[in-house]
Amino acid sequence: MAVLFSHVHAVLFLGLFSLSAWLYIAECASPPVQLHVQGKHVIMDNGIVRVTLSNPGGVVTGINYGGINNILEVRNRETNRGYWDVDWDEPGGRGQQYVIQATEFKVIVQNETRVEVSFSRKWEPSSGSGLVPLNIDKRFVMLRGSHGFYTYAIFEHLNGWPDFDLGVARTVFKLRGDKFHYMAISDSRQRHMPSQDDRSPQRAEPLAYKEAVRLTNPGEPEFRGQVDDKYQYSSNREDIRVHGWISFEPPVGFWVITPSNEFRTGGPLKQELTSHVGPTSLAVYISCHYMGTDILPMFRNGEPWKKVFGPIFIYLNSGPEGTKANSLWEDAKAQMRNEVQSWPYSFPASEDFPKSAQRGSVIGRLLVREMFINREDMPGSSAYVGLALPGEAGSWQKEGKGYQFWTKADSNGSFSIKNIRAGDYNLYAWVPGFIGEYKYPTVISVRPGGYVDLGTLVHEPPRDAPTLWEIGVPDRSAAEFFIPDPDSRYVNPLYINQDRFRQYGLWEKYGLMYPDKDLAYTVGVSDYRKDWFYAHVTRNNNGTYLPTTWTIHFRLENVVPGGIYKLRLAIASANFAEVQVRFNDMVVRPHFTTGRIGRDNSIARHAIHGFYSFYSVDVESNWLRQGDNTIYLRQARGSTTFQGVMYDYIRFEGPSRPS
Ligand SMILES: *[C@@H]1O[C@H](CO)[C@@H](O)[C@H](O)[C@H]1NC(C)=O
Ligand SMILES: *[C@@H]1O[C@H](CO)[C@@H](O)[C@H](O)[C@H]1NC(C)=O
Ligand SMILES: *[C@@H]1O[C@H](CO)[C@@H](O)[C@H](O)[C@H]1NC(C)=O
Repeated sequence: MAVLFSHVHAVLFLGLFSLSAWLYIAECASPPVQLHVQGKHVIMDNGIVRVTLSNPGGVVTGINYGGINNILEVRNRETNRGYWDVDWDEPGGRGQQYVIQATEFKVIVQNETRVEVSFSRKWEPSSGSGLVPLNIDKRFVMLRGSHGFYTYAIFEHLNGWPDFDLGVARTVFKLRGDKFHYMAISDSRQRHMPSQDDRSPQRAEPLAYKEAVRLTNPGEPEFRGQVDDKYQYSSNREDIRVHGWISFEPPVGFWVITPSNEFRTGGPLKQELTSHVGPTSLAVYISCHYMGTDILPMFRNGEPWKKVFGPIFIYLNSGPEGTKANSLWEDAKAQMRNEVQSWPYSFPASEDFPKSAQRGSVIGRLLVREMFINREDMPGSSAYVGLALPGEAGSWQKEGKGYQFWTKADSNGSFSIKNIRAGDYNLYAWVPGFIGEYKYPTVISVRPGGYVDLGTLVHEPPRDAPTLWEIGVPDRSAAEFFIPDPDSRYVNPLYINQDRFRQYGLWEKYGLMYPDKDLAYTVGVSDYRKDWFYAHVTRNNNGTYLPTTWTIHFRLENVVPGGIYKLRLAIASANFAEVQVRFNDMVVRPHFTTGRIGRDNSIARHAIHGFYSFYSVDVESNWLRQGDNTIYLRQARGSTTFQGVMYDYIRFEGPSRPS
């Protein structure tokens, strides 16, 4: 069999050719792209990959590559192999999944080097309810010499159309279970995986919710006793660039490459599913996972909306018999870098996808002013800086309708955001190691081809006085706290030495570690890496889930009368929780409460962060005592095992004079 490694390796090898020169050679050396319309099917074929789509539905029914007649699960119905789908609701409705079935097929581009086809469906007022009120145009593109194909979609809700909520928008690929057994989602998160059958009731025991099972009688004995749950394979969006599956007989890799985050919601830390047992690979654009329904786009009062999702690239690679997983994975990563560099793509024919010249850029330098730490402004090293729809500071976290453009500043705080779609944005930022959200004071209008230099920006994190003590690191995650070992019945071997928080059932370890008394932390004595449980969860009292109260003990040599102390509370995740804070008296009404917060479900979904929130509490001197003090943190909501918060960082400052 021919060695079919992608041209990326060849480019590296042939160093002296420019990429475009090489592409030219690759194009001329490969057969022309062909399009065949055969009744109920449309076939795109470039001699390397052959993709079959239903006509006019626009569902991928077959991918022929590398000696495999169909990479997709041939045992599934044609509508359940490679598709775009949405979950949507009428306001107050129950939510319904809809595999997008188009009604019209059109050839957009067809020549030797490129084919682009469109499968669209239109909503009409006469369509009535029961159909998602969107015009949807799904596009598929194949280039000459390319080991794969692209897909993107344009969703449009016209002015005055019915109100609705969009719960999920994604692209799904279900691969052949008899071929694809090895999954890779990062350099270190890859493994030989159980099969879909291993999850069946005869072979597995359901755990606390349906997605999690314990494999009791798997086809391969090595999986016996392991937990399988697709949420153990979630990642932050910033890390979801390439993931997929490998077959060894023959050696073929199937990869979902997402070259840009611009069309995904909720910013770079929003977590999503990637690939999981099926074998299934997803590209998720909209979902409430790890955030809650606050992030969902809800359309009211006939609001018009249009958005382009993608293009994503479905990449295939292969090698001679005996090829190892690592060479296919490394090649897929090289291809991913190539796609990222080619962004924004020049080929999409839709005018709704602006090309490079129609986009703008924003540069600047972010400094951090923390007078109690440093008299000089400090560079906003590795700051996350992004553009999103105008809103409050931090609103990007819940933003689900627009495009977002994020970058990371260098160690000097300098940042450059490129390839921004024309439009009005706020610029937001936060800096790892500091609390608080930065927002540039005025709306920034990015024009086609425009260039905005914001100069030097100064972020002043919340701070009134020196730190008296602190717990954790302000980085929007609870990863630095104590993470227990999993119950030996619930192990996923992938997470024994990395990402230990991804194990199933850790929430139950709290009650075992603290059977009678809740967690108590003593400033100056305790170590948050060992003595601060990663999640403030409920306690299982014989099937009833009770609130728990953690205490922080600290000394004050003297209390300044009339001084205002500050408690800074950064919360990395919350699920139907409420944190009440009391000083030195457990009985009084809370001095402060967050009220009910969060629906991110991150405890159950094995995450270490989710919905981020931040609180500053003014602490009056008469709540404090000279000598020993206690702060009571009560997570006051208890009825299920998955209620609670994960703290990011807690700081006690003071005193400062009231102004
Ligand atoms: C193929 O079509 C695209 C889009 O119309 C065009 O840009 C390109 O030049 C065409 N290529 C050839 C070889 O005709
Ligand atoms: C950091 O940025 C400042 C302002 O642009 C510049 O003067 C300085 O040379 C930069 N330092 C480094 C190490 O890049
Ligand atoms: C726990 O609940 C069960 C069933 O409700 C009951 O039979 C048992 O006595 C309870 N155990 C304790 C220690 O309360």
